[in-house]
Amino acid sequence: MKRLLIILALYFSLSSMVYAENDMLSKDIIVYKNPECGCCKKWIDYLKEHDYNVTVKSTRNVLAEKARLGVPEKVAACHTAVIDGYVVEGHVTARDIRRLLLFRPDIKGIAVPDMPIGTPGMEKGDIRESYNVMSFDKQGNIEVFVSHE
Ligand code: CU
Ligand code: CU
Repeated sequence: MKRLLIILALYFSLSSMVYAENDMLSKDIIVYKNPECGCCKKWIDYLKEHDYNVTVKSTRNVLAEKARLGVPEKVAACHTAVIDGYVVEGHVTARDIRRLLLFRPDIKGIAVPDMPIGTPGMEKGDIRESYNVMSFDKQGNIEVFVSHE
């Protein structure tokens, strides 16, 4: 019985720690998008459903923002976002954004290139394309950040 209580106490303290840690992560995000972009709008709705405070910057020249923020052409998608000093390019999941903010790697940002089917805002029935979330840094290195099979 005593052992069970210890396990329970441990479980609850651990889960509240994880919760507190998640709570500290920023939820303020700026999204640059073309006013006509429909999948961008859907991604923004998805972020709002996940409790993000979204500031939308509509622009006819998203490419200029990508260049300014250092998004390599190779990993570019439709919209470009900024959260807590990091760039988030394309249809990235809330989970991967949290992963980025939690581990705070020494990179500029992460990107889901080419808008794969099944990513948030790119839903098409049950179709899930496998894809990689890429990271990019100041030196121009591009690496796999997370693999989604
Ligand atoms: Cu898109
Ligand atoms: Cu978009």
